[in-house]
Amino acid sequence: MISLDLRNAKLDEDLSLWQERVSKAHRDLHEKTGAGNDFLGWVDWPLNYDKEEFARILALKKRMEGKYDTVLVCGIGGSYLGARAAYEMIKGLYPEEGIEVIFVGNTFSYTYISQVLKHIENREVVLNVISKSGTTTETSVSFRIFKQWMEAKYGEKAKERIYATTDKARGTLKTLADEEGYETFVIPDDIGGRYSVFTAVGLLPLALANVDIEALMKGSLDAYNELNTDDLSRNPAYQYAVARRILDNKGYKAEYFVTYHLQLTMIAEWWKQLFGESEGKEGKGILPTSACFTTDLHSLGQFIQEGSKYEFETIFYIDEMADDILFPGDEKDLDHMNYLAGKKLSWVSEMAFEGTLSAHSDDGNNPNMVIHLKDNSAYSFGYMIYFFFIACGMTCYLLDINPFNQPGVEVYKKKMFKLLGKE
Ligand code: PA5
Repeated sequence: MISLDLRNAKLDEDLSLWQERVSKAHRDLHEKTGAGNDFLGWVDWPLNYDKEEFARILALKKRMEGKYDTVLVCGIGGSYLGARAAYEMIKGLYPEEGIEVIFVGNTFSYTYISQVLKHIENREVVLNVISKSGTTTETSVSFRIFKQWMEAKYGEKAKERIYATTDKARGTLKTLADEEGYETFVIPDDIGGRYSVFTAVGLLPLALANVDIEALMKGSLDAYNELNTDDLSRNPAYQYAVARRILDNKGYKAEYFVTYHLQLTMIAEWWKQLFGESEGKEGKGILPTSACFTTDLHSLGQFIQEGSKYEFETIFYIDEMADDILFPGDEKDLDHMNYLAGKKLSWVSEMAFEGTLSAHSDDGNNPNMVIHLKDNSAYSFGYMIYFFFIACGMTCYLLDINPFNQPGVEVYKKKMFKLLGKE
């Protein structure tokens, strides 16, 4: 399902030298003995996920079928990025099906919130608010605004259209939801935000958006089974984790996550959060950044080719994206494009990928790794997410970092709260 190509990674080091460290970290992940072990619930979640809650998500979707055309998803960070990444990768940027998913709660941009309020004026809306802590300010601000909008539009019946995903027993959002009579879904105690896409955090909005969540969970389970080995020679997720460490040690301090389709941009955003928030601590870590080629070759290409040399590229390449196009011939050929007539655009894109790889790796001397995924189905999404989860856990343990806390995020919050006058 996933293969890793390290031919241009310029590691100059035998991966097998890391085997012992990998075996230890593998045990720490699976036996839950590593740093931050209170938050390792995601490791076997594809096997042990809450089946009763999963059925409740499907039942809710069925019950509401035909009653809404817009899903408002209100959350930020780990309570937002996974669902959006999945939705765009699987459905595309302009899905045909008549259900629009709009993400709010991820910004204080009043102009954006105002635009959404105008946009949904004549829509039939369901609202899913997602927050583990139940107190995240961006989410709470938007939620109050959209909750009041729902109450003005639907009156008493608003409560049938508002769903809260939060802690099972504690927190402001849980209390509010119980008080208002909203159906609630659970973010388990031992799964942190950025590792939560396989819980109701991702599954409820995706089910409401008509994504096949059963296939998605099957993908995650197959990844769990196939990647549950400490044998480095057979585990591409761990090979990726080790390759990052080797490059880090060689002085490559930034990693471009490169995609070749605009609808994968949010996958890159999700990946950036996963690796950035998990690894960037104690003055350590590789800066996770991203680019969408060939679009960004016309902005960042110059820098990558000839600028300062401290970055490597991880190309996330989907081999069979949906909806290929045959490039047409033209009798007059005024634009001189007939040399591509009769070719598929997938082939053009592949040649761009190969040419760029050679330019950056051979001429630019940048290390490049390629992660191949079969297609952009829900199944492949589930598989790929688990691949990155376990790779991230491994790469952080190899760096001696606890991947599951984020103490640095609190600093801005404290200063902001002081300015806002929050008690
Ligand atoms: O990964 C994380 O833990 C964070 O990005 C959180 O998901 C984010 O801060 C939102 O938190 P909450 O779900 O408590 O609103």
